[in-house]
Order: sequence, then C-alpha cells, then structure tokens
Amino acid sequence: MKIFREKDYDAMSRRAATVIAGEIVHNPSCLLGLATGSTPEGTYKYLVDWYKQGLLSFQSVRSVNLDEYVGLAPDHDQSYRYFMQSNLFDHVDIVPENTRVPDGLTKDALAFCAGYDAYIRAQGYVDLQLLGIGRNGHIGFNEPDDHFVKETHVVDLAESTIDANARFFASRDDVPKQAISMGMGAIMGAKKVLLCASGEDKADAICRAVSGAITPQCPGSILQLHPNVVLVADEAALSKLIASGVKV
Ligand code: F6R
Repeated sequence: MKIFREKDYDAMSRRAATVIAGEIVHNPSCLLGLATGSTPEGTYKYLVDWYKQGLLSFQSVRSVNLDEYVGLAPDHDQSYRYFMQSNLFDHVDIVPENTRVPDGLTKDALAFCAGYDAYIRAQGYVDLQLLGIGRNGHIGFNEPDDHFVKETHVVDLAESTIDANARFFASRDDVPKQAISMGMGAIMGAKKVLLCASGEDKADAICRAVSGAITPQCPGSILQLHPNVVLVADEAALSKLIASGVKV
C-alpha cells in the first residue's frame, strides 16, 4: 500500500485529485468508481477547477458510484445522485449517459443489483476506485458484519452510520435506513483503489483497516489483500497508525 501523508484536508484533497487526474490523463476513457460524503468534496473541487482551467477533460470518462440511499429520488438533495451532480458532473464535460449511480427507487432491487455488477464486469471492472471510510471501518456501505458480501446488494445501515450521516438531514429520523451498495467483488476487482481519509475521527478506522486483522468486522481491512491501493490521508487520520509504529 502506498501512503501519502498530507498535512490537512486541503492537501489530502489536492493529492487525491492528482491521482484521479493522472488516471484520466493516462486513460481518457477510464471507468472511475466514485464516492460521496464529506471526504471527496474537496477532491471534486480540485477536479472541477482543473477542468475549468482546461487541464482535464471528462469527455470519455465513465463512472459508477459506490452507493445510494434506498427510497431517495435522484433529485432529493441528500441523494448521492444529487451529490454527484452538484459536486462534479454538472461542472465538467462528462457525458450524463456515462455516469451511473445506483437507483434508490428501484422496484426490483435484486435485478437492479445484478445488472449493476454485470455492467461493471462487462467494462472489465473499475480502473480507479475512490473510497472514503466510515468511522466503523465501512467502505461503500459494506457495514461491519460476520462476512463480506461480494455482490452489489441492499444493506441495512448500521446505527453508527445513521448517527454519522444525520448531520446531512433535518433530523436523524429522516436518514434512510437502507442503501444499495457495491459489494466487495466490484471494489476488489478495481485495478487501483484510492482510499482517502481526513480527521481524527477516522484515525481508528484507518489504523484497523491498514494494519489490523483482516476481518468483515472492519470491512476496509479487506483492502490489505488488494495489490494496488493508494492511501491519501491527513496527519489526523494517520495519527493512530503512526502511533502504532507503522512507517508512513
Ligand atoms: C460514500 C460511501 C461511504 C463514505 C463514508 C465516509 O459514497 O461509500 O463509505 O465514504 O461513510 O463518509 P464521509 O466522507 O462523509 O466521512
């Protein structure tokens, strides 16, 4: 695992954006696996800036997002489709038909999930998968459990995830209780994984994911088995890993 140690959120965001931009320059029609949440917001801002400066084009890029809340329409301001439109897609030259976010309103989740995986497989898997990590170690919405789930699936969100995400909603009761998430098959099938983390509240999850036991109780720990992971994190998020003696 290659680790970039950055001083703060902005430096983390910029570094992560350089990794994504590098992928796009190297492979203009790459399939990007994208994430939402607070972590990648700054990264998307850099990518939008560089696009506006003419340094980058998304014209041939294709994307698949990790997850979406069950029950939220694409135009709901807390849906992940809405997040992607407002943080990235609406500001760059990506072709709308080339972007995929799970459909939170699907009436047939099983068929939808199978189709999502079939699309990813048919593309030869994701070229670069961007990931944040939950405080409980989740990646995508693969929550701590007694087993890893391979396929895209409907997940019951952990109470701690509902607590963490309540900050985006009017009240905790408004947070959806389920999501559709890519499974570990698609994530681990990615040719390269870019894991990002910022802040003290991610320090424990990063330490467990990077150097703890490989266990579905800390879903991010499965990344230790991936041959090509880049971790971009700030000092605060790396603090426990560093304190545990891992050289970064
Ligand atoms: C988002 C996703 C989640 C988040 C994680 C961290 O698409 O898959 O795993 O990356 O919950 O969220 P933030 O970045 O808001 O701390």
